[in-house]
Amino acid sequence: MRHLIDLESISKEDIIKILDTAKSFKEIFTRDVKKVPALRGKTVVNLFFEASTRTRNSFELAAKRLSADVLNFNVSSSSVSKGESLIDTAKTIEAMASDFIVIRHPSSGAAKMLSRHVKSAVINAGDGTHAHPTQALLDIFTMREKKLKIKNLHVAIVGDILHSRVARSNLWGLLKLGAKVTLVGPPTLVPRHFSKLGVEISYNMDKTIQEVDVVNMLRIQKERQDKNYFPSIMEYARSFGMNEKRMKIAKKDLLIMHPGPMNRDIEISSSIADGPNSVINEQVTNGVAVRMAVLYLLSGGDGKFEDPA
Ligand code: CP
Repeated sequence: MRHLIDLESISKEDIIKILDTAKSFKEIFTRDVKKVPALRGKTVVNLFFEASTRTRNSFELAAKRLSADVLNFNVSSSSVSKGESLIDTAKTIEAMASDFIVIRHPSSGAAKMLSRHVKSAVINAGDGTHAHPTQALLDIFTMREKKLKIKNLHVAIVGDILHSRVARSNLWGLLKLGAKVTLVGPPTLVPRHFSKLGVEISYNMDKTIQEVDVVNMLRIQKERQDKNYFPSIMEYARSFGMNEKRMKIAKKDLLIMHPGPMNRDIEISSSIADGPNSVINEQVTNGVAVRMAVLYLLSGGDGKFEDPA
């Protein structure tokens, strides 16, 4: 692996190596000094052309915990606002000796295109509707940590699948590791053709919620929806939202996930998001460990991380 663009193009073995390495890094979080020298002297640039709370801060923290230098590139106050292209911007940054470029961009394919033009390792932090590989890796890490396996785990991904890079990356990763995946939502947001990828399709949340071990609730992405895909937000919440009524018919140990940011009381009720089955905050914690693993492995680490402490 020289770059991390999506999970479709990496092997099952690489995914497992990232998950196992992340587990070693997570152990560091319990210490007083949560830092190791693995990337000392390296520079990580966060190049975010879209808003982000979790991913950008998580990459910054991951890089700092590995002792790397971090440059957070501010797009709105940069020469991008004067019309500078993505490639010229990235090459300018690279001339200041970056080793990693973490990119989030509204256009699908931006990370892949960038990887063809720069010497730095490129990590896709979300490109359009295409992929968000580190989100999927942290989701899968959390499922494996809580359920102790991925093979034969039944995972429902619920919501705006059509516009979701999180759904696409999750389904590639989960299928490679042997999970059963059911995509749930209205037909307008879960087109039938997704079944060709080897997943089940369901338009009946009440039925599916009784069968699954994990439910990953996706945000309704109004900013990507170019028309009305369902009659109203209330209708969507009633038909597909995770709420107390559905909790009563689900398995007792159902794992409830959400990549964030949440629309509380639309795709997920507040009481469920903050309830005992929810691992939403743990997903965020695990994101730092997973991103440390990705940075470390892309820097040439062998996956057998030697803890100096
Ligand atoms: N899950 C996720 O990508 O969140 P942010 O948009 O806050 O980074």
